[in-house]
Amino acid sequence: MKRVEMTDGLDFIMLPRPVVLATCIDENKKPDIITLGWASPVSHKPLIVAIAISPKRYSHDLIAKSKEFVVNFPDITMAEGANWCGRKSGRRYDKFAETGWTLENSAYIETPRIAECYACLECKVVDQVVSGDHTTFFGEVVGAFVNEDTYRSVKHGGPPNKYFDPEIVRTLQHLGGDIYVTHDKEMHEFDVRGQIDV
Ligand SMILES: Cc1cc2nc3c(=O)[nH]c(=O)nc-3n(C[C@H](O)[C@H](O)[C@H](O)COP(=O)(O)O)c2cc1C
Repeated sequence: MKRVEMTDGLDFIMLPRPVVLATCIDENKKPDIITLGWASPVSHKPLIVAIAISPKRYSHDLIAKSKEFVVNFPDITMAEGANWCGRKSGRRYDKFAETGWTLENSAYIETPRIAECYACLECKVVDQVVSGDHTTFFGEVVGAFVNEDTYRSVKHGGPPNKYFDPEIVRTLQHLGGDIYVTHDKEMHEFDVRGQIDV
């Protein structure tokens, strides 16, 4: 197949990818929700999550000031709300009121979780760096919560020993623009014998 060199819109090459909803608060504890495609774990122990946010976003300054955020994991049924939260700013809208999603108190930080999400990571900012036209916030996970009965345990051990059941949790993935897909349920499991190197 012939390769074509791309010169603009290059980040589409990294799609589809999971979408998360980061919640954050202002100085009066009023919450905002930002839709993020650029979120990733970057350390096991401690568990640290990196999220890249443009300084143009309202949530950027909220997180820079409060030094905390929650990474909430929506499923495909939340796609329309996630897309809306990714097109409108908390400067003008109360996103909990607009989406109808439910505020849920966090266990370890002031920023609330989104009750409808199947998993939530409560994070405290431990570092932030300018990464081109975004700021990458590094959040240490101080509390991790998942809906019961959504994950399976793997018996043969070795990390990861739990995973979300693809029959129960229909993950939300961004395909590009305002289009979303969920994962396929086809699974491939491998048993690598002997020592696992590094
Ligand atoms: C699928 C999707 C993924 C997005 N990912 C990011 C992201 O990783 N970083 C970012 O700064 N903005 C991202 N955005 C844009 C913000 O969500 C959007 O600008 C939002 O309106 C900001 O809200 P705020 O002003 O209340 O913070 C994304 C939008 C969509 C729809």
